[in-house]
Amino acid sequence: MKTSVCIIGAGPAGLLLGHLLRAAGIDTIALERQSPDYVLSRIRAGVLERVTTDLMTRLGLDTRLRAEGLPHDGFNLADGDRLIRIDVAGLTGQQVIVYGQTELTRDLMEAAPRRGLEIIYEAGDVAAHDLESDTPYVTFTKDGVEQRIDARFIAGCDGFHGPSRKAVPADIGKTYERVYPFGWLGILADVPPCNHELIYANHERGFALASMRSATRSRYYVQVPVGENIEDWPDERIWDELAIRLGPEAAGHMTRGPSIEKSIAPLRSFVFEPMRYGSLFLAGDAAHIVPPTGAKGLNLAASDVAYLSDALIRWFCKNDVAGIEGYSEKALARVWKAERFSWSLTSLMHRFPDTDEFGRAMQVAELSYVASSRAMQTAIAENYVGLPL
Ligand code: FAD
Ligand code: DHB
Repeated sequence: MKTSVCIIGAGPAGLLLGHLLRAAGIDTIALERQSPDYVLSRIRAGVLERVTTDLMTRLGLDTRLRAEGLPHDGFNLADGDRLIRIDVAGLTGQQVIVYGQTELTRDLMEAAPRRGLEIIYEAGDVAAHDLESDTPYVTFTKDGVEQRIDARFIAGCDGFHGPSRKAVPADIGKTYERVYPFGWLGILADVPPCNHELIYANHERGFALASMRSATRSRYYVQVPVGENIEDWPDERIWDELAIRLGPEAAGHMTRGPSIEKSIAPLRSFVFEPMRYGSLFLAGDAAHIVPPTGAKGLNLAASDVAYLSDALIRWFCKNDVAGIEGYSEKALARVWKAERFSWSLTSLMHRFPDTDEFGRAMQVAELSYVASSRAMQTAIAENYVGLPL
């Protein structure tokens, strides 16, 4: 097979990139290791920045997002009995939209056939070759048969564990990493949310987050120690913990119900530089991971793709190399700012096993400062809605 851009991974980054390239008339084939049902069964991010919703609008695929997504004007930081509202709309003039990653992915997957975006699901042993050359290729197996796709460029959109980043020689790449000593246990349930806006709570028993997917579906998270077993967390234990950590006001409005999904995600900050090696470009989780506290992971994948699609379109349609040559530097500048925000909010809102009294006093002082300072609230709001492209 032959194509212009072979995309490895059909998560949000790969699907968005594929659609943007197809809309410009550029041939692409995406290779995905999992089945469509498996991809749609992963419950992940829930808060979309304008950069992400604008891409869906540009593609003309925002009908369901606009109809079913919940625009939010603000969110809350809770610390004990105190609730600090960050008035995102008042401070930045912008909103975020609560719309599950699963739904965004579904919209992109369903539109693929009619937009000529070929996705090969259940592709095994995907490997990229000859990346230093202008004639790279990808090999994979499908139904036990080995296949090959020749391309001009390869886009590594295969998430943190995919093969693309690993194909960059060790002496070229540099890795920055921080692994946190806790994870988030998430629960999805068909019950109304306890509050119309999100609540991020710092409690002495650990962090908790109250979020939602709709007026009848809630998403909650609790901080758990690393290595925790999901079997040790029956639904009632999670609801009990949420009721304590979110505080009496939210707990009073919390409706309990059976979980429809439950999983534990580890927390990590990670950046790989550069995001280009020869004919390979990395985008999304393949190049960087943020802890989920700022809701930045999916949105960063979208901003990478906004830069990368423009660069590739300029190359294919205008013979202009400036975009692809500047891609890594441009994308990383935005990535590092989101890394800083996600790390900072994670540090402020979680209980670390080695936090001493001084460390806790610093959290309390910072939260008091946030509560009283419009400048601090503006800085948080600006980052939460997403820095400009
Ligand atoms: P992914 O969504 O990981 O997509 C990569 C795709 O590549 C996948 O479909 C994968 O199957 C495929 N792939 C992998 N290996 C191969 C291979 N060898 N060959 C072919 N295909 C391959 N962010 C938030 O903002 N809030 C959250 O609450 C949140 N929760 C998360 C929970 C978990 C468990 C994880 C892992 C992430 C979470 N994130 C969250 C982060 C957010 O979901 C990601 O940043 C986002 O999915 C990035 O999109 P992506 O397309 O770059 O990567
Ligand atoms: C959700 C996840 C996040 O990481 C976050 O910061 C806010 C909301 C969610 O899944 O709803």
